[in-house]
Amino acid sequence: MFSQAALAINIALAVATNIFVADYSGQITTLALTESKGNYTVTETSVNKDCAPNPSWLTLDADRGLLFCLNEGLTSPNGSLSSFTIGTNGRLTSVKNATTISGPVSGVIYGNPAGPRAIALAHYAGSAISSWLLTGHGNFKHNQDLTFTLDGPAPDPARQDAPHEHQAILDPTSQYILVPDLGADLVRVFSWDDATLKLTALEPLKPAPASGPRHAAFWNPYSVACEGCTTYLYVVGELSSTVTSYAVSYKPNGGGLSFDQVYKSTTYGLLNLPPGTAPAEVHVSPDNKYLTISNRNDTAFTLAEPDGTIVKSDSLSTFALQDDGSLVWHQLWPAGGSFPRHYSMNAPGTLVAVGLQNDALVAILQRDPSTGLIGEPIARIPVGGNVTCVVFDEQKALGVLGG
Ligand SMILES: *[C@@H]1O[C@H](CO)[C@@H](O)[C@H](O)[C@H]1NC(C)=O
Ligand SMILES: *[C@@H]1O[C@H](CO)[C@@H](O)[C@H](O)[C@H]1NC(C)=O
Ligand SMILES: *[C@@H]1O[C@H](CO)[C@@H](O)[C@H](O)[C@H]1NC(C)=O
Ligand SMILES: *[C@@H]1O[C@H](CO)[C@@H](O)[C@H](O)[C@H]1NC(C)=O
Ligand SMILES: *[C@@H]1O[C@H](CO)[C@@H](O)[C@H](O)[C@H]1NC(C)=O
Repeated sequence: MFSQAALAINIALAVATNIFVADYSGQITTLALTESKGNYTVTETSVNKDCAPNPSWLTLDADRGLLFCLNEGLTSPNGSLSSFTIGTNGRLTSVKNATTISGPVSGVIYGNPAGPRAIALAHYAGSAISSWLLTGHGNFKHNQDLTFTLDGPAPDPARQDAPHEHQAILDPTSQYILVPDLGADLVRVFSWDDATLKLTALEPLKPAPASGPRHAAFWNPYSVACEGCTTYLYVVGELSSTVTSYAVSYKPNGGGLSFDQVYKSTTYGLLNLPPGTAPAEVHVSPDNKYLTISNRNDTAFTLAEPDGTIVKSDSLSTFALQDDGSLVWHQLWPAGGSFPRHYSMNAPGTLVAVGLQNDALVAILQRDPSTGLIGEPIARIPVGGNVTCVVFDEQKALGVLGG
């Protein structure tokens, strides 16, 4: 056995950071990123097809070395949930694949880290949430399906023909699951029974009609999560291309959440929003100071390929988070290509991996955590198909890397 210190040095020098990439052609690709004195190398180390046909989302179970993948099932009546163990060099080994309600696009693990746990899935096409009990070593079994209907006619009949659950996230205290519903203009709120992990719907947040809430992110300005601590929620409306911030209050006795709007702007801040912009992903940076949103279809930038070819690029918008929940415009920067459907930052906040759906590639951009400014690409790597999700493999066992 190495000592802890020797192991840390060994990892920092020799072991690559792995990145998992899901794409609609049916693949999960493992990329290995290594850095030496500021020079980066990215190589494809393995490809797994056991989440085929249409991987749409990856949820890392960082404590247990597991990866869950959702197949959206674009041309079939059902989707699926599959699980993998993560081996040496990020190689994935399939554990299970189970049929779900159609169109799963996001998942989150909830429950008691030391007791029963489950994964909740948001189903876009199926207008539903499902829950699956995690029974160990990547095994799981069906727990619950909750399907939803619209209360009345929707403002945007094309995209709001039905409820469309688009994401599932935990609140910072891990007591509630929030689910932006693009079709119903709601952010649904759920609590659960500690023993059965069955979900119960509570009073939802009602964002502006026709905003099409897609993804959301919580923020605790002082990095402390508790019922009495200052908490904000940032909701990105895909249809309105807006970001709206809410002050979040906890109702007594697990009764749910209430929301007071404190700020709203386009995803471009005060700048003019190009027509057709459809924001997708939103996260608070690991340094807890910035909010970054990916904008699809704005073609705000052009990039020169190494051979001189000029290609269109969509953008990433970064805002500085303010203690009162408002946002101050910080940076508009090329995402590295077309349709940045998803992005992730590594734990130190020094890299941004962007999943470019229409270019079928991943752009890895540098970032300076001290200024919150995103910088030049260190690599643009083609993968098998339309990219849907990009996740750094930051398992807790490798936490020595992030310090
Ligand atoms: C990094 O790349 C630069 C430019 O290609 C090169 O001059 C330098 O020697 C490289 N450094 C290392 C440590 O490989
Ligand atoms: C997983 O299950 C889904 C739904 O039943 C199925 O369509 C798909 O082919 C399965 N995937 C694999 C790789 O077996
Ligand atoms: C598969 O899809 C059908 C039709 O939408 C649905 O009735 C059924 O419950 C789904 N199967 C599972 C296992 O969710
Ligand atoms: C992209 O934007 C253009 C307007 O610039 C719009 O006509 C088109 O429908 C948009 N495409 C998508 C897929 O949203
Ligand atoms: C895949 O990418 C192409 C552009 O390369 C785009 O036209 C198409 O709509 C995309 N399909 C999906 C399902 O993302």
